[in-house]
Formats: sequence, structure tokens, C-alpha cells
Amino acid sequence: MDHATHERIAKWERRWLAASGLMSLTFVILIAYTLATEGGEIVQAAGRTDPATLTTSALFAQPGVRALGPNEYQVSLIGQAFTWVPNTVVVPVGALVRFYFTSRDVIHGYQVERTSINLEVIPGEVATLHYTFDEPGTYRVSCNQYCGSLHHEMVGWVEVVSATEFARRQSAQAAPAAVDGESVFASNCASCHQANGEGIAGAFPPVAGHLPDLVRADRAYPVKLVLNGLQGAITVDGVGYNGQMPAWSHLSDDELAAVLNYAVTAWDDPEALPADFVPYTADEIAAERQTPSSAAEMLALRGELELP
Ligand code: CUA
Repeated sequence: MDHATHERIAKWERRWLAASGLMSLTFVILIAYTLATEGGEIVQAAGRTDPATLTTSALFAQPGVRALGPNEYQVSLIGQAFTWVPNTVVVPVGALVRFYFTSRDVIHGYQVERTSINLEVIPGEVATLHYTFDEPGTYRVSCNQYCGSLHHEMVGWVEVVSATEFARRQSAQAAPAAVDGESVFASNCASCHQANGEGIAGAFPPVAGHLPDLVRADRAYPVKLVLNGLQGAITVDGVGYNGQMPAWSHLSDDELAAVLNYAVTAWDDPEALPADFVPYTADEIAAERQTPSSAAEMLALRGELELP
């Protein structure tokens, strides 16, 4: 091409380069401005974790709130289909809260309404951010990454309370009241198995009408089931299920005994249970905890049960 044409094209090239450079600069300025004025934070990856061994990891074995220093708290949180563990986080107003997140299964999103907290919770990774809640209140947490059929029910809460109220709750926790199996079920199990225990055909197997059969076949099996979870294809009342029940070993022995005792009688006749049935005890859960089973072992164990 001749020299004049070349010059004309080069001129337009410089203009486009300048325009795109200006656009990039504008975005950088907008992000910097938002971070500075809205208190946002770029989420950091704080390390790796293995979803299979979360129950023994230092950060996530006992998820929840822990004091780090004066007015500074650590919150470790696990996302799993379809709940947050713990589902409700209580922190004092004005405190520096360091959040640590991971996922037990698929990618979830932890978004706290009315705050800038919004991050991806990824299996195998630990994400961290810090935040200070300046307003007391109850903040709704929603999962904003599609994670499966009950994604929309994956709701949690952050309760921001005064320092005195926080201290009161902590001392109440130190001397726990009797555990109520129904509320353990409502906050941990009902999102999949439903409050009426009937599950959702094809997606989540029923507890009602089924758990007593499991108890009859092997009293220890339901204990192992809540401690280890179950993954793989099973059939209940002629309906096939192929999902994953997470392990609930982060719940206490008392809570697991209470939830089993609730679930064995909540929807079924007492006659459905073996005649010599006695309620589950915390000691029984504690003993079973000593010998964890893998998902494959749980599936094999279930296959050996004699079910009607
Ligand atoms: Cu978890 Cu969507």
C-alpha cells in the first residue's frame, strides 16, 4: 500500500489503542474507588484443603465462631448441598471478623445481604476475607452459585448482636440446654429430607417410613450414616436415588443421638421399630465415631442390609 494509506490506518490504530487504554484505566479507577469507599475486599485464597478430610482439618473440624483476640473473631464455614455449616453465625457488632470458607462438594456462593461479603466457596480451596459489622441485626445469607436442585433453599444467617448479648450467648453455650432433636432435624436435615421426613422422590430419599426399617436391619447403621454420609445409587420403596448425603460428624454426640431419636418416632408408629428398641445415646455415637467409614464402605454396608 502507499504511504498515505499506511498513515491513515496507523492513525486509526493509535486512536483505538488510546480508547482501549482509557477504558482499562477507567475500570481500574472504578474498582479502586469502590474498594476504598464501599469497604470491599478482594477475596484471598488462603490455602488448600481436602474435602474428604474436612472433619480432621484444623480449620474446619469444628466450624463456627472462635475468639482470636480482643474484639477479633474467626468464623470457619463449610458450604455443602444445601446448607451452610454452621447455618447461623453469631458475631458481636464492631468486631473484626475473619471468615474462612470452603466447600464439601460443589461450588457455592456466600453472599450476605446489605454487606460487601460475596464470594465463591470452592471445594479444595480455602477463601478468606475480613469484615466488621457496624449495624446489629439479622443478615440473610444466600447461595448465589447454582449448586443443584435445592440451591434456592440454601439460606443462612449472620446475627450481629451487642457485645453483652454475645457474651450472654457464649456462656449459655458453655452450659448447653438439653438438645432438641426436632430443631437439629429442622436446621440440618429438613432442607433435603423435608420437614415431614418424606424427602423428594428421585432426589432425596424419605426418612419417614424408611428409617425404622434401617434400625430393624442394623441398629448401628443409622449412626454410621449420619457420621459418615452416603454416596451412590440406592433404592427406597422402588424409587432410585443417586446422590450424596454429606457427613454430619461436626454435630455433637448429643445432637446426633437426639436427631436420630426424633426421626425414628416423628412420623412412624412405634410398632415400626424393633420391640426391644431403646433410644440412641450420645455414648453410642461417640463409640461409632472411633471407626469412620468411607463413602464406598457405607454403600457396601447398606447393600448388606436386609430391607423389606
Ligand atoms: Cu449452594 Cu447454590
